[in-house]
Amino acid sequence: MVAAADPRAREAATMLPVYGHLPFVPKRATGCDIITTDGRRILDLYGAHAVVALGYSHPHLINAITEQSRSLLFQSNVVALDVRAQAAEKLIGVAPRNLRHVFFVNSGAEANENALRMACIATGRYKVLAITQGFHGRTAAAGAVTWNSDPWYGFPQKPFDVDFIPRDDCDAAKAMIDKNVAAVIVEPVQGVAGAYDLSQEFLTTLRERTATQGALLIADEVQSGVGRCGQFFAVQVYGIEPDILTSAKALGGGIPCGALLCTKQLAGRFGPGDMGSTFGGGPVAAAAIVAVIDSIDRENLLANVRAREAQIREQCVVGPVRKIQGMGLLLGLHCDRPAIEVRDALLEHDVLTGTSADPDVIRILAPLVLEPRHVDHLAHALESMAPPTI
Ligand SMILES: Cc1ncc(COP(=O)(O)O)c(C=O)c1O
Repeated sequence: MVAAADPRAREAATMLPVYGHLPFVPKRATGCDIITTDGRRILDLYGAHAVVALGYSHPHLINAITEQSRSLLFQSNVVALDVRAQAAEKLIGVAPRNLRHVFFVNSGAEANENALRMACIATGRYKVLAITQGFHGRTAAAGAVTWNSDPWYGFPQKPFDVDFIPRDDCDAAKAMIDKNVAAVIVEPVQGVAGAYDLSQEFLTTLRERTATQGALLIADEVQSGVGRCGQFFAVQVYGIEPDILTSAKALGGGIPCGALLCTKQLAGRFGPGDMGSTFGGGPVAAAAIVAVIDSIDRENLLANVRAREAQIREQCVVGPVRKIQGMGLLLGLHCDRPAIEVRDALLEHDVLTGTSADPDVIRILAPLVLEPRHVDHLAHALESMAPPTI
């Protein structure tokens, strides 16, 4: 029974019942730890859906958004702002070299929505290819390119023709990408699917084939980006330059924001009024983006991500875990029993992980500031789990 004053009961009474709740209520959080209302300290390896890249209460991020809120909380895109220009410059500075222009939005779905629209406008074509098992968001266009979205999609028709390339099938990619295709949208490491890292050969094929057929390659890095895969963007691990890249989640470290990056050539096709977003690139979001990018650089967090990945791969194929897939701190742990059982058992050991669309895979989306002792904690918790119930 949940007490009446408990926010779980109050949310259930007042909000749409579309989210399941975990069995704790956070009171505050710091670094990688959540402190609950009943005094538990939970190690958060799920990072609030891959959002809290710098961990909780990071001083540089808190100072940046506090100072920005005091001086100018909000202004729209009808005026230019130093902090917004800085955020765009910083983002271009860490992106693949061909991506020279930014459009700021508020979420991953909004970034993808605009990327797909941009592709249709720029090519004059109305067919989009996506990859099986991919996830791109819950709005009209982003949902249309999401694998298996039919149960929740709800619109009578999709805004363009959609087909799905079987993941890692290079021959299918070559056959399907033709001169009718406006764009291929791909998560280099498929997050919701269970942190499945697509093969180098497949991504190279997508890049080459889209280029020869006049289609655009859109990299959805909403989950895989902002340092999570050991480079600022996962495409940089693969050495691929997409035509459009979308980012959100960790970009503001917890302040809602998103961005679409594109080539100079594409940017040249758009003018005043062609795109817009009231809150996109607001000053507090822009200050957060600057603080996140600066902190990743100053604290050498890309190297930390790679070191913690190596440590997890070495120490955590224990207990229920049979193998590990993914990249950096976007990892999928294949288990010998239902992932939800493992997630729940780990939570009893005060370790929070996530599930995924693969029922055997638990997901690690830890803050990039993860420390060696945190990985030790995870390894011990996995080791101490009882064998599967038969
Ligand atoms: C790869 C990917 N793209 C897009 C989205 C949608 O992002 P948002 O929930 O910010 O709209 C998500 C969210 O999980 C995602 O993982």
